[in-house]
Amino acid sequence: MEETVQKLLVSRKGLLAADESTKTITKRFAALGLTSTPELNKKYREMLFTTPGVENYISGVILFDESVRQDLHKILESKRIIPGIKVDEGLMSFNDTPEQVTEGLETLDVRLKEYAQMGMKFAKWRGVFKITDMYPSKVFYDENLGRMAKYAKITQENGIVPIVEPEVLLEGNHTTTRCGETMDATLKILFEKLNTEGVDLKNLIVKTSMALPGPDSGVKALPLEVANATLRALNRSVPPEVPGIVFLSGGQTSDEATNNLNEIVKLKENSPWVLTFSFSRALQNEAMETWAGKDENTANAQQVFIKRLEMVSKAAKGEL
Ligand code: G3H
Repeated sequence: MEETVQKLLVSRKGLLAADESTKTITKRFAALGLTSTPELNKKYREMLFTTPGVENYISGVILFDESVRQDLHKILESKRIIPGIKVDEGLMSFNDTPEQVTEGLETLDVRLKEYAQMGMKFAKWRGVFKITDMYPSKVFYDENLGRMAKYAKITQENGIVPIVEPEVLLEGNHTTTRCGETMDATLKILFEKLNTEGVDLKNLIVKTSMALPGPDSGVKALPLEVANATLRALNRSVPPEVPGIVFLSGGQTSDEATNNLNEIVKLKENSPWVLTFSFSRALQNEAMETWAGKDENTANAQQVFIKRLEMVSKAAKGEL
């Protein structure tokens, strides 16, 4: 696990989240007029993973079960990119409220044993936290973060590095400050639960949102404001033993996510963790649109993809 953590957090590189569930990739393809099938999903992801030079910017890729069964991790291994796997099984309504709890603990141990044999070195579990006047609720925090901590423990017991992803959702009309405070509260409770479970914090990676104003607030935050609020939350809640924090893009445009990451890294000063990216949409959107399901667009899409990776890699050093 130590070796995996070190390799994932190597300077200038970050993670590509290519772990869209069947439902999510169906939605992303449908927006481009494409119908998702296992074959088309494979073709698309092959286009991404075979992009020349991708290994210079990506240390690890988070995969969805379908892709592992299609042997796509072998392309990554041939480029010394570390394969990981999304292991949560999505969201379920929680006690008839608008909050949604993450599923997948019951079968987790069995699934991890198979994934370990297939060469998966790290895993990801995502919980979502919606901000409204009433939510997140205390009872929901306890349940959803308790499950996330149990996942982390079981994953380490299988020799696999857990990424814990408590995603504070972008949607809503909240301020940047409220988002930062919610991230802080969420992460504090998460670390209490991780300690209760006896999770080894040195062999764990945190995946988090950035602190942003809700899109319905009508406010756009400048990178400096995002960076300040994000770092304030992380400094208050993430213990220094944690080796790395990776950011999701959460529905920001590719440029917004890139510029905000750059500013966060520039401002991080003595923060003890490696900070880098683990974007899905911000890395993929432009490449997916350029590809548009057509073989003849592959080379162009790969160029667009590598260009974005180059920028995000610079941002991960605060050098944009
Ligand atoms: O769980 C969410 C993904 O890993 C990150 O996706 O960058 O599009 O928010 P995103």
